[in-house]
Amino acid sequence: MTQAQIICGKTLAAVIDEEVKEAIASLHASFGKTPKLTVVVVGDDPASAIYVNNKVKRCRKVGIESEKLALDANIFQAELTQVIRDLSADPDTHGILLQLPLPNGMNAREILHEIAPEKDVDGFHPLNFGSFMAGSQDALAPCTPQGCLRLLKTVIDDFHGKDATVIGCSNIVGKPMAELLLQQGCSVTSVHHLSHDIEGKVRAADIIVAAAGSPHLVKADWVKPGAVVIDVGINRLRDLGDGKSGIVGDVDFEAVSKVASAITPVPGGVGPLTISYLLVNTVRAFAHQIG
Ligand code: GUN
Repeated sequence: MTQAQIICGKTLAAVIDEEVKEAIASLHASFGKTPKLTVVVVGDDPASAIYVNNKVKRCRKVGIESEKLALDANIFQAELTQVIRDLSADPDTHGILLQLPLPNGMNAREILHEIAPEKDVDGFHPLNFGSFMAGSQDALAPCTPQGCLRLLKTVIDDFHGKDATVIGCSNIVGKPMAELLLQQGCSVTSVHHLSHDIEGKVRAADIIVAAAGSPHLVKADWVKPGAVVIDVGINRLRDLGDGKSGIVGDVDFEAVSKVASAITPVPGGVGPLTISYLLVNTVRAFAHQIG
């Protein structure tokens, strides 16, 4: 029985950290300035707290100044909007990240529109998202799909004509992922909870990107032998007495790694790369603002 190559996100993230450090040093030499990212987190969602702390830590590691603004869950939308407007106008802040999800009752779309497009390091503002989806190479693009593509490029040289199936259609991952794979020359199928024969559509794919938020959704018999599998899922399992707890992906890793040619683990696969591209986008935004 064959065993898939494990695509290690941590190793690749360390390579990108070095690239980012070099870019920051060169911009500092030319302009005498350092990039700054401000991360805004509202409420006390425990998963968001961990993600935000990881983002702030990785920024500091590569030399991006970073600040966390932790706001009360009961803040009014108008107050949060003002915080975002002030950061958008602040010349010392080059990147703004509003951690999602927001507490119930807040309209994330309305608030994301308030981030100055040139500081929108998530690529969620409609101006950036629209120009990215229209094929612009200059737009700030969403981080997780960029990370997934970089992971895929470590094992695939030629994407032309490959069949890719993306599971999930969110604006954060699924939709922009499908667009990036199209740009590479793949034929792309997007599946979601209303799709018929999801298994068949996944089984037809040379490249599978699972971003459904459903633990162990993708089984070994959904996967064509030799396919490359990228697992975006981060699902927290509670210990129900069966000894299975902790974080698992959207893919049944043990079983699928006996069928696929390459696969990302959870944790240690896509997660570190999402933050890598946050760093890359922050430096791109900074270079654009000071240049
Ligand atoms: N919540 C989960 N993923 C993300 C992300 O990539 N960016 C932001 N801002 N919030 C998230």
